[in-house]
Amino acid sequence: MNFSEILSDWYSTNKRELPWRKTKNPYYIWLSEIILQQTQIKQGLPYYEAFVNKYPTVHLLAAAKESEVLKLWQGLGYYSRARNLHYTAKYISEELNGVFPDNYKDLKALKGVGDYTASAIASICFNLPNAVVDGNVYRILSRYFGIETPINSSEGIKSFKALATELIDHENPGDHNQAIMEFGARQCKPRNPNCEICPLNSSCLALKNKQIEMLPVKLKKTRITKKHFNFLVFISSDGKTYFEERTSKGIWQNLYQFPLIESEEEVKDLALHAVFKANYDLQLKSVSVYNNNPIVHKLSHQHLYTKFWIIETDNLGDAAVPISKLKTFPTSILISNFLDSFNFN
Ligand code: ADE
Repeated sequence: MNFSEILSDWYSTNKRELPWRKTKNPYYIWLSEIILQQTQIKQGLPYYEAFVNKYPTVHLLAAAKESEVLKLWQGLGYYSRARNLHYTAKYISEELNGVFPDNYKDLKALKGVGDYTASAIASICFNLPNAVVDGNVYRILSRYFGIETPINSSEGIKSFKALATELIDHENPGDHNQAIMEFGARQCKPRNPNCEICPLNSSCLALKNKQIEMLPVKLKKTRITKKHFNFLVFISSDGKTYFEERTSKGIWQNLYQFPLIESEEEVKDLALHAVFKANYDLQLKSVSVYNNNPIVHKLSHQHLYTKFWIIETDNLGDAAVPISKLKTFPTSILISNFLDSFNFN
């Protein structure tokens, strides 16, 4: 048996029963693949079910409010994916009568749909020979064929796509693509894969050459910047606080948060006190820090060192919202975790 036949054989006995494997409806496949780019299958499953239950058709997703979609997405991170999902649902509902494109090129032209998602939908729904290349595919191919080209170099991106395309099973491209991803997630794992039981072990070059741990090769490109975030959690005597929509571009656009002061250095209380006394014309009753040790929230290019400041005040005026309503607003996981752990009473 060749590489693809062994893979297909492995998949037929190891494949998991998953709701999106029972359908070829491009709406469901698109939803599942966008969610699965954010998280692993186990964590993604409840999100998929929540979306399908709430929006069983693309028209219903299109008709939703953006804040509702962001709320359902909450916890997956990278909110631009959720905004693109909503944008594309509206486009398909309004401009294409709810009918998804049926080929790679037109699928890829949709907002938020890149090479990976277009290939997944084209192969699974329309039986087209478009190969997916995700982290699993890079890992398996680089190991099995002993390829040291960095997977994030332009040469690597091109050559791994070409190799994946050469290997695809033209009879069952959708199953082939899902098999290779599943094989990467369950057998050819990033760390300590159990090569002894691997059905590809007799012909895997990395295993033969003791290169399993060093492959795939990835260039280190990103420099991580450190930021200090200070959220001001006002609590008025009538149980209200400020919770503002973040309008600036970026991952948390349109999500709600407590007023934020960014600083170059970690803030000790007196310095911050002076800043918000200048910014807010309020009668302060008390100021304290909720977490003395910053909570570190790690994003791909930034580490956010975060403190929540608890500020008791008199009345906050019309812009304030009741604390009891905070959980109904879409927000980042960082704020959501705070809301879950802080006792407002
Ligand atoms: N990872 C992302 N999408 C997948 C799929 N359809 N099957 C297996 N693994 C996946």
